[in-house]
Amino acid sequence: MKHKARKGIILAGGSGTRLYPLSKSVSKQLMPVYDKPMIYYPLSILMQSGIREILIITKPNDKKNFYDLLGNGNHLGININYEVQKSPDGIAQSFLIAEKFLSGCKSTLILGDNIFYGPNFNTLLNEAYDNDTGATIFTHKVNDPENYGVIELENHKIKSIEEKPELPKSNYVVTGLYYYDEQVVEYAKSLKPSHRGELEITDINNIYLENSALEYKLMDEKYSWLDTGTHDSLLQAGNFIASLESKNNKKICCPEEISFNSGWITNKQLQALSESLINTNYGKYLMSLIEKNNI
Ligand code: G1P
Repeated sequence: MKHKARKGIILAGGSGTRLYPLSKSVSKQLMPVYDKPMIYYPLSILMQSGIREILIITKPNDKKNFYDLLGNGNHLGININYEVQKSPDGIAQSFLIAEKFLSGCKSTLILGDNIFYGPNFNTLLNEAYDNDTGATIFTHKVNDPENYGVIELENHKIKSIEEKPELPKSNYVVTGLYYYDEQVVEYAKSLKPSHRGELEITDINNIYLENSALEYKLMDEKYSWLDTGTHDSLLQAGNFIASLESKNNKKICCPEEISFNSGWITNKQLQALSESLINTNYGKYLMSLIEKNNI
């Protein structure tokens, strides 16, 4: 039993202009990635991490759509709260918006358009969850590090992190999944906007680094970190999920399944969820979980 519950934040703000006209009237994080809205993927990561108190931060106009999709979360055995980010002033602003919600708890922040997939991801998530002091970031090797927060490693320790450097010191970048201790809100309050006018998550990570309190998890080549930022990458992400799901006959990032396996909802509750979707393969899949459980 985990002693002090960590709370989760999904940041689903941002303008999403690179997906226009798709995302002109519908939030990017509600776009389909094969058989689920995009936000199901980060939501599932938080749930796999054992987090049941979740805040979704949206643009003001999108809040209703997210609520229509996920409500208060009780059908999934979790609590979902909502706040708005009035303008896209940076990822670190999440902690100013979430201060009341967090009320002094440790947190996990995940970006609403980040999709993670890999073997035994739970082990990495559990280790990060259990890091009680300091912060843990998740890193991955990419071909275009200049578009991200880039880490420089020395003797398996982080030496520096630079936000979108012109000359990246490595190909290892910071993904959109961050675990922080209780200090993060105070650190966020101390930030000044960067030259692009944003409160940078990299500046928060650098505070932890200066305090020797920043750990990292390396997601090696067995892991996928999918980009959904352009029409092509969104389609590729959908195809990737579709092919894995059909090959393994198992859904990736299915919140209902995670909840059921965690014992947060009963057979009967899962049955009701599956019946409401029974015309779809998604609903039939949920039904098959109940049947498997009854064998
Ligand atoms: C942001 C962060 C960057 C991080 C990236 C992960 O970039 O600033 O450090 O590597 O998310 O997706 P942005 O989305 O603001 O370009």
